Amino acid sequence: MRIGVPKEIKADEYRVALTPAGARELLQRGHDVLLEAGAGEGSAFSDETYRAVGATLGSAEDVWRDAELLLKVKEPLPSEYPLLREGLVLFTYLHLAASEELTRALVESGAACIAYETVETDGHALPLLAPMSEIAGRLAAQAGAYFLEKPLGGRGLLLGGVPGVAPGRVLVIGGGMVGYNSAVIALGLGASVTILERSIDRMRHLDEILSGRVSLVMSSSLQIEESIVEADVVIGAVLIPGAVAPKLVTREMVTAMKDGAVLCDDAIDQGGCVETSRPTTHSEPIYVVDGVTHYCVANMPGAVPITATKALTNVTLPYVEEIADYGLAEAVARDPALARGVNVLDGKITYEAVAEAHGLDFRPLEDVLPLSPV
Ligand SMILES: NC(=O)c1ccc[n+]([C@@H]2O[C@H](COP(=O)([O-])OP(=O)(O)OC[C@H]3O[C@@H](n4cnc5c(N)ncnc54)[C@H](O)[C@@H]3O)[C@@H](O)[C@H]2O)c1
Repeated sequence: MRIGVPKEIKADEYRVALTPAGARELLQRGHDVLLEAGAGEGSAFSDETYRAVGATLGSAEDVWRDAELLLKVKEPLPSEYPLLREGLVLFTYLHLAASEELTRALVESGAACIAYETVETDGHALPLLAPMSEIAGRLAAQAGAYFLEKPLGGRGLLLGGVPGVAPGRVLVIGGGMVGYNSAVIALGLGASVTILERSIDRMRHLDEILSGRVSLVMSSSLQIEESIVEADVVIGAVLIPGAVAPKLVTREMVTAMKDGAVLCDDAIDQGGCVETSRPTTHSEPIYVVDGVTHYCVANMPGAVPITATKALTNVTLPYVEEIADYGLAEAVARDPALARGVNVLDGKITYEAVAEAHGLDFRPLEDVLPLSPV
């Protein structure tokens, strides 16, 4: 199969969808890899390192035109919509519940669109979201600590405190992959950490792996309201897979927060779990509402591309190999986890939560298969 990898064009996105090591694995299996020149530079992979493993370098136009399977990191932007076409398999993060415009563009393109974030195992794990959530969780705690500094508009509080002065309080809403990782780093910095979760089993697990070092409390609207006024840093980390994030933090709750507190809404890529959130970029990561610093970067791992690109290829490669080796129809028939990743196919929305989010028609994947030949 001809596998294309364009350069990411989203603001401050430095990741690339395939490392040279990943390219070599695919080439060794007999596939072609065509990479846009310069695509790996942001992640410290030169064109030469790709050429050395046998990949072909070309222009963006070459990659979009010639690829049968197109690997990206972030969703296509409006300037890329016209490049989508029937017969193309697009494999990338899509977060369609957050954008009706993109959903419609993908439906109209006729391309087969597989979202990394909805590839889901029978055990409900999200293997392609997990490494980015690990990174985004760890970064959220760092960002929280950083933006608490007074010259940056924060409260002027050292998150870890010092002997004789109490540490700051971190409230994490959602104790999944992002929540756990932000708690680990916040604890490492010396903060006092509370996680609000709604799965009791997950809380039992967190209690065990964090050795009781965090407070674990059942999440509810009342609990969020009571806890948020005490917090110096709030990290929004909830997820209903594929669906738009629930707005758990209302504007009134934000208004009641401490002046100069920091709110990191990691769930912004699914629309955000805070009423006052709107997406920001790494060049302008924050804005202030009612004295509360909002950090709502939708592609947080893009800031640490050397780590994130490797972590991404580590997990996507087995699925890329499946699609390339068997073709999409057989690959999804063999692997239910990959099948759950298919969001749009042959002009139909095949992921229910996405269709629901926009009030559009849903067609189960098995109704749309067999795929029209690519
Ligand atoms: N901004 C970024 O760059 C970035 C990067 C990676 C992930 N994310 C996003 O972060 C969010 C969390 O991802 P994740 O991988 O940790 O998901 P996850 O599925 O591992 O965890 C989500 C957790 O939220 C919990 N939850 C659901 N509803 C809740 C509620 N009402 N109150 C409290 N907890 C609730 C679930 O029980 C689950 O444990 C997602 O929206 C994901 O897309 C953002």
